[in-house]
Amino acid sequence: MADTATSKPTTRMTAGERAGIPPRRMDFKFADDTKRYWYADNAFLTTFWTTLSALFPAGETFFIDSVKNYRHQVTESKLKDEISGFIGQEAMHTKEHQAFNDMGDKHGLPTLQLDKELWWLLDIAKKVFPKKMQLATTVALEHYTAILAEQLLRDKQHQENIQDPEALKLWMWHALEENEHKAVAYDVYQLTGGGYFTRVFAMILATLGFIIFVGQGHIRLLWANGTLFNLKDNLKGLWSLWGWKGLFPRLLFKYLDFFRPGFHPNDHDTVQLLDDWRHKMLDEGGMLASQPYSAAQNA
Ligand SMILES: [Fe+2]
Ligand SMILES: [Fe+2]
Repeated sequence: MADTATSKPTTRMTAGERAGIPPRRMDFKFADDTKRYWYADNAFLTTFWTTLSALFPAGETFFIDSVKNYRHQVTESKLKDEISGFIGQEAMHTKEHQAFNDMGDKHGLPTLQLDKELWWLLDIAKKVFPKKMQLATTVALEHYTAILAEQLLRDKQHQENIQDPEALKLWMWHALEENEHKAVAYDVYQLTGGGYFTRVFAMILATLGFIIFVGQGHIRLLWANGTLFNLKDNLKGLWSLWGWKGLFPRLLFKYLDFFRPGFHPNDHDTVQLLDDWRHKMLDEGGMLASQPYSAAQNA
């Protein structure tokens, strides 16, 4: 990864920092009076992103565990450092999205129920599926998070649509780090003998699981919000996700690239993009400058 992720002297660096994947401690505060429709003033889109958030704590803990299963097989020091960074970053995402999901709960949305159900489901998956399949599923879902996050970082429209400043910090910080560690699970998978067909099979399963779980979760949030049949709002939101130049159609080619036999996550070059965002967020006066990580860096 880019070596501009931190400017700390080598002697004080943690493993994640050495690898350019520093876990950054955040402490976002989502006020009780946070704008209810914080994404584009639209209930459909706000509940869509909130549904994704509800799946992160259990999902990202699953990612961590599936990589940890193979950690002992990795002897190369660079990849070992990257694994440490990956685990630290994902653990921090889990913590902050839990806070965000609590806010959804306060808005009367079943975020905590969705979270509980996914923990239960993934606990079963851990017992039923072979460890290699679990890791391949993580590789597939990390591709999802990487390309989705890249679009959040590249497209100013998303940044304008997120109208709550604290929510903007959360999603941009998460998007940055998803791209910083996007190759870690993939590299562990390859190093430990993971093959093409399992990877592709896992992507097909992950896509089906993603559509079903996110779809049903989103419908339940809309129902709880009382806007499931708000046609105007929902059509506007659907167009924004699936219409011409919508979120998903624009991701299509990057998504399909995963099916190329020689695919590697770093084929999608985000080095300059991440460097720009690190400066934008972490430099003095940046949107994350008052967070515990930045305070510790500047101490
Ligand atoms: Fe994450
Ligand atoms: Fe991730």
